[in-house]
Amino acid sequence: MAVTFEVIHKDIAGRVGKLKAGDKMMKTPGLLPVVNPHLQIIPPAEMKKMGVEGIITNAYIFSKSKEFREQAEIRGLHDVLGFDGLIMTDSGSFQMSVYGSVDITNEQTLAFQKQIGSNIWVPLDIPTHPDTEREEVIRQMEITFDRMKEAKEIFGDDAPISGPVQGAVFGDLREEAGRRVSEMGFTYCPVGAVVPLMEAYRYRELVDVIIDAKKGLAPGACVHLFGAGHPSMFALAVACGCDIFDSAAYALYAKEGRYITPSGTLKLDEMSELPCACPVCRSHTVEELKKSPDKQKLLAYHNLAVTMAEISRVRAAVQEGTLFELVDERCRSHPRLYDGYRRLLERIDEVAKFDRASKRRFFYRGNESCLRPEVANYHKMIPRITLGPEVLVSAGGPKPSRFEEVLDFKPPFGPVPYELAETFPAGQAEIPPTWDEYMVEFGIRGLKALLETNPETKVTISTTQKWEAAFREAFPDAEVIV
Ligand code: GUN
Ligand code: ZN
Repeated sequence: MAVTFEVIHKDIAGRVGKLKAGDKMMKTPGLLPVVNPHLQIIPPAEMKKMGVEGIITNAYIFSKSKEFREQAEIRGLHDVLGFDGLIMTDSGSFQMSVYGSVDITNEQTLAFQKQIGSNIWVPLDIPTHPDTEREEVIRQMEITFDRMKEAKEIFGDDAPISGPVQGAVFGDLREEAGRRVSEMGFTYCPVGAVVPLMEAYRYRELVDVIIDAKKGLAPGACVHLFGAGHPSMFALAVACGCDIFDSAAYALYAKEGRYITPSGTLKLDEMSELPCACPVCRSHTVEELKKSPDKQKLLAYHNLAVTMAEISRVRAAVQEGTLFELVDERCRSHPRLYDGYRRLLERIDEVAKFDRASKRRFFYRGNESCLRPEVANYHKMIPRITLGPEVLVSAGGPKPSRFEEVLDFKPPFGPVPYELAETFPAGQAEIPPTWDEYMVEFGIRGLKALLETNPETKVTISTTQKWEAAFREAFPDAEVIV
């Protein structure tokens, strides 16, 4: 019965893994599309054919529905929704945050979720709004903890109950919440109340919230980002450590005539082409889609298809070790997303401890690449190399043959000794032939670190006129030739 999570590949703090709940299984990172029983724009059985392995629905809506309550109680959720994959149910907490209160108790919603055969249940947590004062955040957090404790007491340690992590935008509270949720034994942990941050494009704070929650959570916890479903932010959120997303965006946007792409959302009415490979976009012209009586449904199909494709792309990137490059690409589509990416780079030391040692490649994509953890780690490792009495640092200039020891200079890493020439990261780094100042500055940092531990070595740096002054200034004791 219990929920288990197995990590298979890692990249930055992202993982590819396997989530099991009861007899259901799904790959992670994964998306649970939100299904509302009253307005099923895409039947869940159709979603399954699009690669959807799990969905989320709202137990509160079921419990309040004349039409669906009894059916779900008798036949079970999977039968009523026509979906044999993983089904998670939310509790009604979201309704509570919108309407102020709900007329069910924690125990009632959990008992109902159990009865209808949900695979992952959510207690009646309190989604504390990000702009709430600290004292109130703490008060609400304690209520959420009491309810999680009650849930364990009534339904047992093996019940598939999730442990929501709240704490608004207070880093220490998110961390504490994560720690306590893990200590209580929850393995499936949704990070809650982040929808207002995403709606307001507060991605810098969103990155902080995820990193803080992750700091407290056990490394083996499966992390769900509640209410996140726009594909443009999947790569960033996965890099911060999220494993599961859920969203109604595919349907809500379709209702408003909006067309999702991995880099942002477009208004269908303003589009002149359909730049997508999904069956809807290949079988309609943009004019046909605009005029179609099924426009909303077709748009929902497209929106879900591109969302699922992006999830696949993120999984592939984690598996290959190219997630950083995907994050870098996606986060340039909106300045506020870019700000979230910069926040990740600022806190990369806290995140990089989850990273893997070796990847397939390192593509230089501009200044941000200099801030990748591989560069800082290389600079920490390089002083361990012992140099001979005399070396040539080859930084683009002539190569006199009299040197026995030659170090290739490869910014932003800096010196690459012969024995590291085939090794990740410097050995697998692809950099542009024309260097920029920022990367050379980092390369010089690496060379300085190496020369500091080899003070007796006589150094000759061979470079071009463009970089001569930079090397002379950084290494006044070295000979610089051009
Ligand atoms: N949906 C979006 N955010 C939340 C949250 O914080 N808690 C619950 N239960 N559902 C949510
Ligand atoms: Zn499409």
